[in-house]
This record gives sequence, structure tokens and C-alpha cells, in this order.
Amino acid sequence: MSLASLYRNVTLAIADAPLVESAVRRYGWRMGVGRFVAGEDIAAAVPALLALQASGRKAILDLLGEFVATEEAARAVAANIVGCVRVAHENGVEPYFSVKPTQLGLGVSEELAAELADLVAGAVAAAGGRVCLDMENVPYVDGTLALYARLRRAGHHHVSTVLQSYLHRTPDDLERLVALAAEDQGVTELRLVKGAYRESPENAIQDVAGVVEAYRRLAYRALDGGLKLNIATHDEALQRELLAYAQGARLGPERYEVQMLYGVRPQLQERLSAQGHPVRVYVPFGSDWYGYFSRRLAERPANLAFVARGLLG
Ligand code: FDA
Repeated sequence: MSLASLYRNVTLAIADAPLVESAVRRYGWRMGVGRFVAGEDIAAAVPALLALQASGRKAILDLLGEFVATEEAARAVAANIVGCVRVAHENGVEPYFSVKPTQLGLGVSEELAAELADLVAGAVAAAGGRVCLDMENVPYVDGTLALYARLRRAGHHHVSTVLQSYLHRTPDDLERLVALAAEDQGVTELRLVKGAYRESPENAIQDVAGVVEAYRRLAYRALDGGLKLNIATHDEALQRELLAYAQGARLGPERYEVQMLYGVRPQLQERLSAQGHPVRVYVPFGSDWYGYFSRRLAERPANLAFVARGLLG
């Protein structure tokens, strides 16, 4: 296991401890949550969303929340997302939403998640937007891909999903998505990420170079398979290689897009956008920021120093 993977696994394990969670939840905004989260609700996030749009970048809206344990809570989240679609629409923000299947109840039952995802997808379609089903940890990968296929077959062609290059299973999952796209109308988009969760060696590649190499192979296969590739990484070398390929093959914005996270490498986002590449920024908002914030800290040791400075300063 590489040092980077070790750091990530240890940080994510510590974040699971209830004492750590309650302390971080208490002091979160002082610790710098606001660098990665645009506000406690969509109204607070609207200025950041409009500023991104004005700068030529697009946004992915993410109402934070995950691993919802009851039907009642999942229904409340779905209603909240539908409310956010309305607020986005009223404020002139493109309603491109990401949702986590477990916030729609995938951990409660597949039927519940399907019903609520259909509701959210319908509301987003009515506002002229798009939906992406985020990919969570291994226990939910099958359920998420089944949910995705079900929504597409029900006519929700504006719904896409995510694959993680660190999983050993992903090349097979990608072949299934390419086959599904071939039976479908229009271009199917796919967000490709390295993967943000703590996974075992049985399920996931543990060394950084292996994850990057898998990413490259999957990216070329997705493009060859006719998918629109959403290059969701801050890894400049990977971006450079794939963007050069896209330019060489004269691919337009209907075939590729760079996707990056709010608060991560903003100057790089601006530079890529100024160079004429389509850039979309994932903008999370909401009060349930703990899991998301822990994953961002686990991605980069320097972020822990940033948090410590926030606490001390
Ligand atoms: P890598 O970690 O190699 O970072 C490259 C460079 O980017 C670093 O050297 C650093 O400069 C900078 N950087 C990266 N992360 C940073 C951070 N947190 N803070 C500050 N600087 C940072 N994962 C998942 O499992 N399911 C999902 O649905 C999604 N969705 C998603 C959407 C979008 C738009 C993005 C960009 C990412 C995701 N991810 C995700 C997260 C993804 O799996 C991965 O954990 C992060 O993107 C970090 O990996 P990178 O590929 O960016 O490179």
C-alpha cells in the first residue's frame, strides 16, 4: 500500500469515530468547511453558483446527505431536493443535480430508492436539467448501477452515473454501460473518478500509480465506446493527456467535460475554462457535510494543516 493510500485509509477510519465526528460537527465552519461547502442551504449557495456561471464554468448542485437509514428521512431528503430544483430554476441556475443513492434510501430498499429517484428525475427534467447518481462505497455499487439502468429504461435519458477507477470490477461495469448506451437514444454521459472511499484490497487497487493507470485505460475505453466522458479529477497530468486527446480527435463539449470540486484548485478550473474547455464544478451545500468534508481531508495531508490553522487562528 502506498503512503498516500495509507494516509487516506487512516484519516477515513479516524473520521468514523463518533467522538471525532461530534467534535468536528461542532467546530466545522471554524475548521474550514466553507472552503469545500458553499453554504448551509441552497439559498446560501446561490451567489457561489451564479459567480461560477458568470465566470464561464457550469455547476453540479449537490444537496449534502448520505446513508439515510429510514424511509421517512429519505422521503424528506427527496422533497428537499425537489425544493432545491425550484430554487435553482427561479434563480437562473442550471438545475444539474448530483444525488447519492443512499440519501434516497438505497440502504433501506431498492424500491424506495427507485421511487424517490424517479420523483427527483421527473422534477429535474421538468426544469430542463440533468441528474447524476454519485457512486458510493462497494455495498451500494450494484444497487446504484441497477437504479441507473432502471431510470434510463423508464425514459430518464437525462440521468447519468459515475464509475470509480480504483475498483477491480469497474472495467466490466464500463462494458455494461457502453452496451446500455448502445441501446439508448442520444449521448450517454459518464463521470469517471478515482474513488473516494476506504475499500479493501479485495475490492480496490491500493497504489496510486495503479489507480491512475486504470483511470487512463477506462477513459480511453469510454471515449471509444461513444460515451461523453466527464473527466472528474484534479490530477493535472491526467487532465492534460485526456484533453490533448480530445482536442486531437476534435471532440466537442457534447463528448467531454472537465469536472472538479468546489474549493479545489480554483485557478486550474479558471485556466482550463479560459483555454476553451468545458468545465463544471461540483458545488455541495447543506447541513449534512460531515462525510463529504472527511473525504476531502483524506485526499490531501495539507488539508489537515489548513483545518488546524482554522482552529488555532
Ligand atoms: P488526486 O487525489 O491525485 O489529486 C491531484 C491533485 O489535486 C492533488 O495533488 C492536489 O493538488 C489536488 N487535490 C485533490 N484533492 C484535493 C482536496 N481534497 N483538497 C485540495 N486539493 C486537492 N468519488 C467517488 O467515490 N464517487 C463520486 O461520485 C465522486 N464524485 C466526484 C465528482 C467530481 C466532480 C470530482 C472532481 C470528484 C469526485 N469524486 C467522487 C472524488 C474522487 O473519487 C477523488 O477522491 C478526488 O477527486 C481526488 O482525486 P483526484 O483524481 O482529484 O486526484
